[in-house]
Amino acid sequence: MGPPHSFTALLPALALFLLLLCAPSTNGAVTNTTVDDTDSAFTFTGAWTAVSPADPCAGCSSKPDPTQTFNQTWHDGNYRTGAPTTTTGSFAFTGSAVYIFGIDQAESQPDIAFTLGSIQAVHHYTGTEQFAYNALFFSATGLAADETHTVNWIYNIDPSTGVGVQEALFDYAIVTSGTEDVATPAAVNPTTTAGTSTTAAQTQTSGTRTSSSSTSSSVSSTPAANKLGTQQSSTVSPYVLPTCSYIENSALILHTAVPPSRVSRLLP
Ligand SMILES: *[C@@H]1O[C@H](CO)[C@@H](O)[C@H](O)[C@H]1NC(C)=O
Ligand SMILES: *[C@@H]1O[C@H](CO)[C@@H](O)[C@H](O)[C@H]1NC(C)=O
Repeated sequence: MGPPHSFTALLPALALFLLLLCAPSTNGAVTNTTVDDTDSAFTFTGAWTAVSPADPCAGCSSKPDPTQTFNQTWHDGNYRTGAPTTTTGSFAFTGSAVYIFGIDQAESQPDIAFTLGSIQAVHHYTGTEQFAYNALFFSATGLAADETHTVNWIYNIDPSTGVGVQEALFDYAIVTSGTEDVATPAAVNPTTTAGTSTTAAQTQTSGTRTSSSSTSSSVSSTPAANKLGTQQSSTVSPYVLPTCSYIENSALILHTAVPPSRVSRLLP
């Protein structure tokens, strides 16, 4: 004997109900947040000038185009050969990755020595542009996502420039927070989430870093797509259910009342 017709008709609603019970939380989403140099997460010690529309620093020798910077603000730090006071800075964040961006200059830029825990890197611009916006000064990935980290940097004179007063411009940082969720392999439609990540990346990096933003959005959409793909499948096909013990148990119970063709679609 076959299942009662009315029960079969209820299956989509039942599947949707189970999906809602089983819907993954959004806590695990990997997101990028841009932090302006005006944020208190940054500290600047020594010879720094905070440049903004309200305080444009007429006396600063470096005058980049404000409209090509993030939030039209940056910190201009300089260091002179033999200066008794160092020029240093730091950025504190909680997340799994950090990217610090500035405006590179072809002339008079010091070596900027970064430290994050055991990670050390020196930023040294070798290009020829007078101002190269959205320049990646430092990055670190694969950090403990739930811990607070601090990047520190110090200026060292670059003897190859032949310039006694050396200057570098810090613009903003990007912090990646959240962890990739490995649960729930399910029907995936990456276009749903690609929009979210792409928008974030494009907001954060303007101008020259287009290629890196578009790359990142396709990479980052994968874990998020798995999650949203699950939820979206409820509207596309209520018979595509995610893997989770609750659903599996329910599917087993349903097994007795559902024709084999339906069961195969209910089981993951
Ligand atoms: C942009 O800069 C202004 C100062 O010019 C500051 O008050 C504001 O908080 C900054 N916006 C962001 C998003 O950091
Ligand atoms: C976050 O931004 C960095 C730097 O632009 C990029 O490399 C990374 O792929 C982005 N991650 C996400 C999840 O968008």
